[in-house]
Amino acid sequence: MLVRVVASSINPVDDKTREGAIGEGAPPLPMTLGWDLAGVVVDGGGSGLRAGERVIAMSHQLSSGRGTWADLVALPARAVAAAPRSVSMAEAATLPLAGLTAVQTLNWLAVEAGERLLIAGAAGAVGGLALQIARARGVKVDALVSRDAQAAFAREHGAEVVTADRDALQRHAYDAVFDTFGAFVTEAVADGGRYASIATQAGPVPDLSSRGVRSTVHQVREDGAGLGELVKLVDGGALRLRVHASFGLHEIRDAHVRLREGKLAGKIAFLF
Ligand SMILES: NC(=O)c1ccc[n+]([C@@H]2O[C@H](COP(=O)([O-])OP(=O)(O)OC[C@H]3O[C@@H](n4cnc5c(N)ncnc54)[C@H](OP(=O)(O)O)[C@@H]3O)[C@@H](O)[C@H]2O)c1
Repeated sequence: MLVRVVASSINPVDDKTREGAIGEGAPPLPMTLGWDLAGVVVDGGGSGLRAGERVIAMSHQLSSGRGTWADLVALPARAVAAAPRSVSMAEAATLPLAGLTAVQTLNWLAVEAGERLLIAGAAGAVGGLALQIARARGVKVDALVSRDAQAAFAREHGAEVVTADRDALQRHAYDAVFDTFGAFVTEAVADGGRYASIATQAGPVPDLSSRGVRSTVHQVREDGAGLGELVKLVDGGALRLRVHASFGLHEIRDAHVRLREGKLAGKIAFLF
């Protein structure tokens, strides 16, 4: 499919790739950055999506070299979904990478209604979406956060116990732990539980097999059908997207600087 990009967002991986921190896994220079897009179909190929329709997609930039920070992006139809109707294109552009990471990791953790899940970084881009999706599935969620504003967000979105003190976490209490920043709060997971990290650069999860705990470092995959499920949650009101600040494409440098400054309440979006 060929898509004209209207909006994108910055993810931590873009910052790391720009800085050269990815190492051997990065595409060769010159490369185009960007994983997220919200845009308009120019040519739907055989996808069933027609020219002019609004769509979103995640492009796995590191493995394909196919960056989304371009006026036109050609990508496989299986990576694309119709955009949510209830939000702006800037908001929609914050969903693909963070949303797919959240839902794929929750699916690996296989947390069910009534089970207890701890999310480390529950007010971050991925953690904030994982919190909302897990609550929509009836999971009981507790949150490890970094500051007061994040605690308020986590409580507002249904987290029960919210703390910034990792030593205050109950020991061996959680059926599953979703670790978004390499907290490695392994004492919190129950024997026989599941522990998933997405903090690739923090390295592997310590071996917990002696306690019967399964663990993984999840790597996000392109998945248009998964995006379609996320879009339903957005349009159904179960998933709120947060834009901390929006920039124009000509201000992309400022947008990167803002991401670096941290203390965000939502994502950095930018408009073409
Ligand atoms: N493996 C994959 O496929 C994959 C996919 C997506 C993302 N990632 C990686 O996952 C990480 C999170 O991504 P993101 O987009 O969600 O980033 P993000 O929006 O910055 O979220 C990280 C969250 O963790 C919090 N945090 C950091 N250190 C903390 C600490 N010591 N105690 C409590 N909270 C802490 C941050 O709080 P502050 O804002 O206060 O710092 C922030 O809310 C990044 O490293 C990213 O590269 C990996």
